[in-house]
Amino acid sequence: MPERKFSKQILCIGAGYVGGPTMAVIAAKCPQYKVTIVDINADKIGQWQSEKLPIYEPGLLEVVKQARGRNLFFSTEIEKNIEEADIIFVSVNTPTKTFGEGAGKSADLQYWEKTARTILRAAKSDKIIVEKSTLPVRTASAMERIVNSKENGIHFEVVSNPEFLAEGTAVADLEKPDRVLIGSRETESGRRARQEIVDIYANWVPRERIITSNIWSSELSKLVANAFLAQRISSINSISALCEKTEADVSEVAYAIGMDSRIGSKFLQASVGFGGSCFKKDILNLVYIAESYGLQEVADYWQNVIKINDYQENRFVRKMISVMFNTIAGKRIALFGFAFKADTGDTREAPAITVTRKLVDERARVIITDPQAIPNAKKDLQDILDQVEFEPDPYQAAQGTHAIAVMTEWKLYKTLDYRKIYAGMEKPAFVFDGRNILPHDELYQIGFNVYPIGKPSQSHI
Ligand code: UDX
Ligand code: ADP
Repeated sequence: MPERKFSKQILCIGAGYVGGPTMAVIAAKCPQYKVTIVDINADKIGQWQSEKLPIYEPGLLEVVKQARGRNLFFSTEIEKNIEEADIIFVSVNTPTKTFGEGAGKSADLQYWEKTARTILRAAKSDKIIVEKSTLPVRTASAMERIVNSKENGIHFEVVSNPEFLAEGTAVADLEKPDRVLIGSRETESGRRARQEIVDIYANWVPRERIITSNIWSSELSKLVANAFLAQRISSINSISALCEKTEADVSEVAYAIGMDSRIGSKFLQASVGFGGSCFKKDILNLVYIAESYGLQEVADYWQNVIKINDYQENRFVRKMISVMFNTIAGKRIALFGFAFKADTGDTREAPAITVTRKLVDERARVIITDPQAIPNAKKDLQDILDQVEFEPDPYQAAQGTHAIAVMTEWKLYKTLDYRKIYAGMEKPAFVFDGRNILPHDELYQIGFNVYPIGKPSQSHI
C-alpha cells in the first residue's frame, strides 16, 4: 500500500452554499486532511477553482485560497472520489417538493436518493456518510436502507451533522460556531463514526461546543432551530402591524422586551418578511411531519409562522398602494436590494420576489438595484423581464421614480445622498423602508413621505 499523504480523505457531494464554505473551512483548519468537493454542475466546479467563486460570501475567497491545491480540491469525478473517501458529507439540495404527494410542503429528496445510490454503486470499502443538508426527520433511516441494501460486506454508517451557518456570515459562523451537533445511532459503530466527526471539528472548535445526540434528535434540532428563529421574526412582525395602528414603535418594543435575558435581543428586527432557503422550507417540513403523525394542532401552530410572513409581505405592498393614492399603475418604483438579506447574492425566497410580482400585477414599472443579487434576480423574474429593469447604481435606479422601497438591509443604502436622490424623483416622493435602516427623520426633512415598518409614518400630504 502506498503511504497516505493525508490522515483522512474527506469528500463532500454538493458544492453549494452549505458544502462549499463548510469544506473550505475544514480544509483551511485541518491541513492534515484531504478535502474534495464534487458536484454534477461542471460550471460551478470551474468557478470554485477560479478567482470568482459561484457564491458571494465575505471572506470566503481568502479561506478557499489558503487551502486550494494544498488539501482542498474541486472535481466533477464523483464516483472516483467516493471510492477514495473515508468520510462523505452530503450537501446536495433538498428543495420543497413541487409535485405529487406532499407538494408545497415536504422535501424533495430525489437528489438525496440519487446520491445515496451513487455512493452505493461506487464504494468499495466502509464509509461514514454525513448528512449535512437540511432533511426531514428520519431521512437517515431511508439513507441507511438504500446504502446497506447490497450484501457486499461494505458497512455504511450514517451520521447527522446539520449545518447552522447563516449566509453573509458563513465563514465566521464556521470558524466560531455556537455549537456543532453530531447525531448517530447509539450502537458501537454509530458512536465510533460520531467520534470520527467530533475529531474533525475538535481541530478548531472547543470541545464543550461540540455536542452529540441520537440521530433523530440531531435531524429534528436543525428544523426546530430554524423554526424558532423564524417564529421570532413572525412574532415581532405581527406586532409591527399593531404598532402601525397604535403609534407604538416596534424598535422600542423590541429593545424593551429584548433586555429581558429570558427573551434576548437577537432576531427581533421587524422587516418586510424573512426569506432564504431554510426558514420556509424547514417549517414546511416540520408541518408536514407533524401532519403525517396526526399532530394537526402542532402543524397548525407552525404553519402560522409562514402565514404571518406572507401577511407581512402582502401588507407591505398594500400599504404602498394605499398611500400612493390607491393606484400605482404606470408609476416607477425602485427596489433597493433584492437579496433575501445583506452580504449575499442569494435570492431564494426573498421577499423582494413577491413584492416585485405584486407591484407588476398592479402595472407598476419596477427598477431593481442590488450590489450582488442582480444575476439571480434576473433568473427569478424570467417570465416578467419586460416589466422590470435592473440597474446596479442606486442613484440611477431611483431617477424618475415615484417611490423607493428598501428590500435588503445593505449598509450602502444607509449612507446614500438622499438629497440628490430626492431631486431626481417624481413628487410627491415616497420611501417605504422594509428594513427600518434609513434615517427616517432626515428623509422627512428632505421632503420624502416616509413609511417604515412598525413605526409611525411621516408624511407631508
Ligand atoms: C438561517 C439560520 O440563521 C441558519 O442558522 C441556518 O443554518 C440557515 O437558515 P440564513 O437563512 O442564511 O440562515 O439567514 P438569517 O440571518 O437567519 O436570515 C433569514 C431571514 O430572516 C432573512 O431574510 C433576514 O433578513 C430575516 N431576518 C433576520 C429578519 O427579518 N429579522 C431579524 O431580526 C433577523
Ligand atoms: P445548499 O444551500 O443546501 O447548499 P445549493 O443548491 O446551493 O444548496 O447546493 C446544492 C448543490 O448540490 C448544487 O450545486 C447541485 O448541483 C449539487 N447536486 C445536486 N444533486 C447532486 C448529485 N446527485 N451529485 C452531486 N452534486 C449534486
